[in-house]
This record gives sequence, structure tokens and C-alpha cells, in this order.
Amino acid sequence: MKKPRVDIALGSADAAQLSRQGADALVFLVSKDIQPGAGALSKLARAALDAGDLETQPGSVLMMYRPPGIGATRLILACIDDQSVAHVRAGIQAAIGLARSRSLGRLAIGFASDASAHALRTVVSAIFERTYVYAATKSAPETPPKVLEKVWIAARNAEALKPVLDRAIAIAEGVELARHWGDLPANHATPARLAEAAMALAKVPRFKCEVLGPQDIGKEGMRAFMAVAQGSAEPARFIVLRYEGARKSRPPVVLIGKGITFDSGGISIKPSEGMDEMKYDMAGGASVLGAFQSLARLKPPINVIGLIPACENLPGTSAMKPGDVVSSLNGQTIEILNTDAEGRLVLCDALTYAERFRPAAVIDVATLTGACVVALGSVRSGLFATDESLASALLAAGEAAQDPCWRMPLDDAYAESLKSNFADVANLGGRGAGSVTAAKFLQRFAQKFPWAHLDIAGVAWNGGAAKGATGRPVGLLVEYLLATAQEP
Ligand code: BES
Ligand code: MN
Ligand code: ZN
Repeated sequence: MKKPRVDIALGSADAAQLSRQGADALVFLVSKDIQPGAGALSKLARAALDAGDLETQPGSVLMMYRPPGIGATRLILACIDDQSVAHVRAGIQAAIGLARSRSLGRLAIGFASDASAHALRTVVSAIFERTYVYAATKSAPETPPKVLEKVWIAARNAEALKPVLDRAIAIAEGVELARHWGDLPANHATPARLAEAAMALAKVPRFKCEVLGPQDIGKEGMRAFMAVAQGSAEPARFIVLRYEGARKSRPPVVLIGKGITFDSGGISIKPSEGMDEMKYDMAGGASVLGAFQSLARLKPPINVIGLIPACENLPGTSAMKPGDVVSSLNGQTIEILNTDAEGRLVLCDALTYAERFRPAAVIDVATLTGACVVALGSVRSGLFATDESLASALLAAGEAAQDPCWRMPLDDAYAESLKSNFADVANLGGRGAGSVTAAKFLQRFAQKFPWAHLDIAGVAWNGGAAKGATGRPVGLLVEYLLATAQEP
């Protein structure tokens, strides 16, 4: 396997050793009540705080060039107060911003004493996040500055933190893969290319990948999925990834990722403003690829299946039409009232397909509804679950991975509006609670296993200047999967 893009090492240097460490810059993370001790570092930090030159609000940093007694060429002081995620993130991001602007390649990062697991994860994810460069479709990519090739992190409790570091790096790599595919335009990230990426991931021991094309999908009987795909000339793919890290008899967790490589809305076409962003409608699928990338690094003793129904949703001449009724893989008929509610159509067949693995749990991940963006914004994914222990495991994994979700309801009363006069169910609910009615639709196809659904429409993409994919919820998924390794 390729080495991680950034080489990160962890050691337990004390303040005196840290001050001698050679690097392009030494970032020293201090709390505002740091006491001046042995060595130059803590004295400098204390003095800078007392003078007010190092401010205590998150994100303020002070850089010095060749301060006496310091081995590194530059010293960057960052006040992180209580090691809270917000403080560490702000401090590290500011420090990395400085390192980037000066193209520094070798960075040492020191905690004044012990680092919390949360703080270390924050450092690692911020390093990868801030040095990610999208270049895939630029003719003359700004030669990415040779920034942060080597990072040393020092904390007094380094030994205990080693597993946390490995996990954080593996997750960062998975996040990066998911970001890459989310960012890639739809004419590049086609279903076929997505399938090739899955195949490439499976080239290592214990991984397998099988890809179904349009004919196989038809033979299977995934007609709800086919209905979405049929409006586009771009052939669909149904991707089946397997990771076998445990004995065969151990029931797998199945991850399903929505893989709409472009969602125009189909005949129920979307407004043109912002439609370009619908290239990330395969972010759920990308997060499944990302999770498998992390698994390849960590090789936990579990079994995992990844399913990605991938196609475009376009208004072609053979596109599905409002009012059409299709028969899904499990025989339920569906009246398509809005062709823009296509995610649930591809997912319902994937959910039925998942039954054959006799899974311990099935988690589908999808940029499913604009309504979820309205409900939860970009902070938390919407979590829907039919199983209490699965729900609490996912909530806990989200907190641990700093990739949080929020439980949403599944009362049967929400399903009332999905009733159809012409089929078993309609693919469109009423005016209110759009993310819940979408989940209620999916629930009809998730009766045979503990099931959870993550609506990531709000969290998978950044708007504004940082426009682009976030790689969420790879962290949540990987954290959850690793936790299941503890169960018998
Ligand atoms: N992919 C969209 C949901 C979406 C919206 C993702 C905004 C990311 C940002 C999904 O296929 C869709 O179009 N949903 C419709 C459902 C409606 C027609 C019931 C929606 O949310 O408007
Ligand atoms: Mn849609
Ligand atoms: Zn969609």
C-alpha cells in the first residue's frame, strides 16, 4: 500500500527536547495558564501571553523567526486553552495556514504536556484537510507547494496515543478519497469510473469487488434502480465491495452509498441555479469507498460489504416519467410522482439486495433530501434507525470521530403521505418533514435486518469559498465499524 500523503510521526519529547527539535517550524500549543518551566519554550510562551502578544482566543497565533534557544527555524505559538476541539482546530489551522503560505515542508507540533485523543485527531484531520489540493481537472494545476511532507507530533503521552494516530491517519485518507470523488465533475466521475475506483481499492488481500452492468442489473430485477438510470446514456453500475477480515460465519455490516453521479432531477427537473453541485449526489457512495480505503489501512477483524448503486438522473428520451409505476427488487410497486426523488429508488433495490448477506446491520448513506439540509444544516447528519443499539453506536461513533449525527423520528404516522392509488407506495411524501418521509419510504425495504439511514445532504458539501466535498461521514462510519470489532 502507498504511504500516507503526509508522513506523521508521534513521539514523547518534553519541552526541553522540543526546543532543540530541528524543523522549518515548531508549532507549540499552549494553554493560557502555562507555567514557565525548564527550557526556552514555556518561558517564551508565558511571556508572550503576559504581554498580550499571544492572544487567548482560538485561532490567534504568534510567529517568531529564529528565536534564541529554539532549534527550529520558526516558532509558532498557538493558544489552545483547554484542548477543546474548536480551540485545537483553530490553532492548528492558523499554524498550517502560515506553514502553507511559506511553503514549509517539515513541521514539528508540540503539546505542552499530555494530548487528548480528541486533540490529536483534530491535529491529524486538520493537517490533511488543509493540505488537500484538487488538481484533477486543471490543465496547469498550481504546483502544490511542497508543504507539510513531514510532521512530528510531540506529546508526553505519545505511547498511549499511537492507536489513535493510526486510526486518525487511516480516516484522513478515507476522507480524502471521498472528497476527491465528490469534487470530481460528473463527466469524469461516471458510474463506470466509480466502479473502476472500487476495483482498484480491492486489489489488496482480503478485499473483493464485483461490478454489475446494465444487463446484470436487469437480470437481478432491480427495476426501481433501472428506472432512474434509463434517462441517461451513461450506463449504470452496481458496485459490490467486500472486506473479509473475520471468519466467514461472522455476519457482515453492509454499507450502502447513494451513487447518483449527477442529479438533474430528471423530468421533474431542478432549477439551474446551483445545479452543478448535484455532481456530489454520489457522496454517499464516495463515503463507502472512503471507508473501504480506511479498512485497507487498519484491517480490523470484521466483515464489511459495500453496495453502491451508481447512475445519472437525467431527462433523456427514455427517462422515467411522473406517474410511472415500477416494480422494485422485492416486488413492491412504486408510483413515481417526482423523478427528483430518485435517491430512494436506487436505494430501495440496494436494501433488498443486502438481504442476501444476512447482515448484522445495514447502514445506508445518502445525500437524500434538501429537507434534511433545512432541518440540520451542515453540522450534523440526519440519523434514522430502527434498532436502538445501532442508533446509539452510530451517535457515539459520530461524537468520537468529530463527525456527528442527530437522531430523527420514524413514527408510522409520517408514512401516511406516501400512500398511492396506483401502486403499493409513492416515491413522494407530503409538504412537511421531507427527510422523514424519505426515510419512511426506505424503511419499507429494510424490514429484515437492523437498519440505519444517514441523510448527509447537508454535511457532505461545503458552500462558499470552501466550495467542495467534505469527505463526511467517512469518520463516523469507520469509527462505528472499528467499534463493532470489539463485539463477539
Ligand atoms: N439529491 C437530492 C437531495 C439534495 C438536495 C442533496 C440538496 C443535496 C443538496 C435528492 O435527490 C432530491 O432531489 N430530493 C428532493 C426530494 C423531493 C423531490 C421529494 C428534494 O430534496 O427536493
Ligand atoms: Mn433528486
Ligand atoms: Zn439526488
